[in-house]
Amino acid sequence: MEIFGVDVGGSGVKGAPVDLTDGQLAAPRMRIPTPKPATPDAVIEAIAGIVSGHGWSGPIGVTVPGVVLDGVVQTAANISEEWIGFDAATGLSERLGMPVKVLNDADAAGLAEVTYGAAKGERGVVLLLTFGTGIGSAYLHEGTLIPNTELGHLKFKDGVAEEYAAGRLVKRGDLEIEWWARRVDEVLDYLDDLFWPNLFVFGGGISKRFEDYSHLLDTRARIVPAMLRNQAGIVGAALAAARGVDHA
Ligand code: BGC
Repeated sequence: MEIFGVDVGGSGVKGAPVDLTDGQLAAPRMRIPTPKPATPDAVIEAIAGIVSGHGWSGPIGVTVPGVVLDGVVQTAANISEEWIGFDAATGLSERLGMPVKVLNDADAAGLAEVTYGAAKGERGVVLLLTFGTGIGSAYLHEGTLIPNTELGHLKFKDGVAEEYAAGRLVKRGDLEIEWWARRVDEVLDYLDDLFWPNLFVFGGGISKRFEDYSHLLDTRARIVPAMLRNQAGIVGAALAAARGVDHA
């Protein structure tokens, strides 16, 4: 079965049909730069462009970088505040004339990795963390997603975890990767004390450089890079739409 997945990120809105038998993209993904400002209306138009560009008609899954309950966005740490309280699922379904499920971006990546990728078959608790503009999180237990954990917003040091250790600090040149990795190691130790995961899965742009810093991470739980890389959001969005997931 094919379902269309869309991943709304800070720099790009990306979408493609996904073949759910193997989690592969059924056609090359299309990418449109994220509109500035990224208001709901502007982002919906970008999504509509990608969906019609593929000539798609059918169910669609969409990620957003915020808490989502029943299709309604509840928080907006790194996107326009206009998203807060916006019923994204209804707004998109009406604009596109197709059924749309909306879920958090890191939760989508978690669903994809546990179904097809680095967390497949893993026992116990798995925490997937995406290191990009913020820190996204997906909490998985024996393959089941506990949505909207937002561990990047845990109080940490003088602020919150994502201010201390987001991937953007390296991308912007604020931190050398070694120093960033030392900070991440501190965050992982804290998460380990709280959740005792068997496995951490690292996603986000910086997971591509895993070999450059993995030797600096000595947390008890195993750590592996995500396997689906920048397709995880699209694939997870499609999975959520196929499963009719409402809260996640
Ligand atoms: C948001 C999360 C999101 C993460 C990664 C955080 O700032 O609060 O919802 O998953 O960034 O995009």
